[in-house]
Amino acid sequence: MAVVPQIGPSILNSDLSNLGSECRRLLLCGADFLHLDVMDGHFVPNITFGHPVVECLRKQLGDDPFFDMHMMVADPERWVQPMAAAGANQYTFHLEACPCPGPLIKTIRDAGMKVGLGIKPGTAVEDLAPWASQVDMALVMTVEPGFGGQRFMEDMMAKIQWLRSQFSSLDIEVDGGVGPDTITKCAEAGANMIVSGSAIMKSEDPRSVIKTLRDAVTEAIQRRALDR
Ligand code: DX5
Ligand code: ZN
Repeated sequence: MAVVPQIGPSILNSDLSNLGSECRRLLLCGADFLHLDVMDGHFVPNITFGHPVVECLRKQLGDDPFFDMHMMVADPERWVQPMAAAGANQYTFHLEACPCPGPLIKTIRDAGMKVGLGIKPGTAVEDLAPWASQVDMALVMTVEPGFGGQRFMEDMMAKIQWLRSQFSSLDIEVDGGVGPDTITKCAEAGANMIVSGSAIMKSEDPRSVIKTLRDAVTEAIQRRALDR
């Protein structure tokens, strides 16, 4: 099955005191999913929020919005059940926090969520490869996780290209420094799930930024289909 473009704003750099209305605004501007960054102060040197906030967001936003939980936490097993109960749809954890992810992948599925597996910039894509056919989504970080607004690491594109060449129907997500200036590289490499934080949040016209990101991915997918 062909992959589809999906744009997920990261709300990390939004007005967190108004998270519900920020999320609603982004959904109205065309977001396909919400990328919710959970940080525990151990896996990354920053703290954000946990499952109680996700539960409140789910109550406020209703059943429809897809919550992609980016779990930047040292102990990803610990939060599976609470996140599932809070209404998370996809649980994306890091291979660096769980080097033998087979059992955790099963636990997440058994809890009724989709599975995402992420790698930091220093981790080789070959380390993720053995698990790629067992997960719904592979996340290639293009910054060191922990903070929004960092510079996009273009040298990560080779990982995405390689993954796309091996797994044509895998959802491949890119996260970190992605916006109108860098989307073409991500799209051409083969990413189809696009996380964008500050580029969307800082814009006065988030709707057009989301459209620009989606159009670039759509075009790249069409071009790859023609090349086959
Ligand atoms: C960083 C987070 C990202 C971040 C992206 O650790 O995982 O989701 O919010 O923000 P930008 O797009 O500003 O790099
Ligand atoms: Zn993220």
